Amino acid sequence: MKAAFRRLVGWYREHRRDLPWRHRSDPYAILVSEVMLQQTRVEVVQAYYQRFLARFPDCASLAGASSEELHAAWAGLGYYRRARNLQATARAVLERGGFPTDRKRLLALPGVGEYTAAALESIAFGRPALALDGNAIRVLWRFLALAGDPRQASIRRELADRVEPLIDAPGDFTQALMELGATLCKPAHPACPACPLADECAGKLRWRELPPPPPARRSLEVDWSAMVLVRPGQVFLEKAEPGELLEGMWRCPAAERLEGLELVGTVRHAITFRRITCRVYRGQGQPPERGEWVDLEDLTHRALPAFTRKVLRTAGLAV
Ligand code: ADE
Repeated sequence: MKAAFRRLVGWYREHRRDLPWRHRSDPYAILVSEVMLQQTRVEVVQAYYQRFLARFPDCASLAGASSEELHAAWAGLGYYRRARNLQATARAVLERGGFPTDRKRLLALPGVGEYTAAALESIAFGRPALALDGNAIRVLWRFLALAGDPRQASIRRELADRVEPLIDAPGDFTQALMELGATLCKPAHPACPACPLADECAGKLRWRELPPPPPARRSLEVDWSAMVLVRPGQVFLEKAEPGELLEGMWRCPAAERLEGLELVGTVRHAITFRRITCRVYRGQGQPPERGEWVDLEDLTHRALPAFTRKVLRTAGLAV
């Protein structure tokens, strides 16, 4: 198995995609990339990553950012809790005078789970830690033709116990597993003839069964009505409070009373497990207490989530 893993790393070094975070090995830059990549595709992350690091090159700059600056840099990536956790982590790192390097202390950082901790350990600190994201799990599950449920922590721990002692070049090994999963060992129709692990792969002929698919997550249907209140050159927006839809982000207020408003369309949008159907009203009614009038010209500079943009566009505003 060790020889196969060596071939995997050799394959990675030759075939890896040139991605911006692969030119860095400092923990801050690696953390930003891993957090962005948690729920967002590589192609989308690339541009955001470069801009985010140019704007916040280190923990100190991120720790000192206002909520508005932070959200503006993250606007469009979705899952905004990730950005707030990243900032909380930057602050915690500054406070303790540097990044921790061991699993237990890494796990104590806001938003850092088993996967991210192991990615940091291996990529930034060169420790033989097995980072199991969806791609890595699929690759190893097939390679070893494992049985059971890959979501179970105990099975993943067992997998780590088997694989970690065989890791030679930790950072490259972590990224090689993900790269193989993203480019050759795909969920459907893996390219086994090109795979550096194929000779020893126990699941090569059984890839359709491995690993078993997770149960579909039940989504929650949410009905919502938003009002786009306008006056010449301005629109009224509010910042969602903790616990509200789009927490911390600018949104159009809920349309609770409809006098003076006209229904202009419906927007559908998914946020994590919520599937939102939002009726969009436009008009010139009385604004709620919370919120502010925003110049239409300034909308592009605001941290507007994709959902708010859709609502504004449906009401005929150019954003
Ligand atoms: N997905 C998660 N982490 C990644 C990484 N470091 N490179 C490519 N894809 C990834």
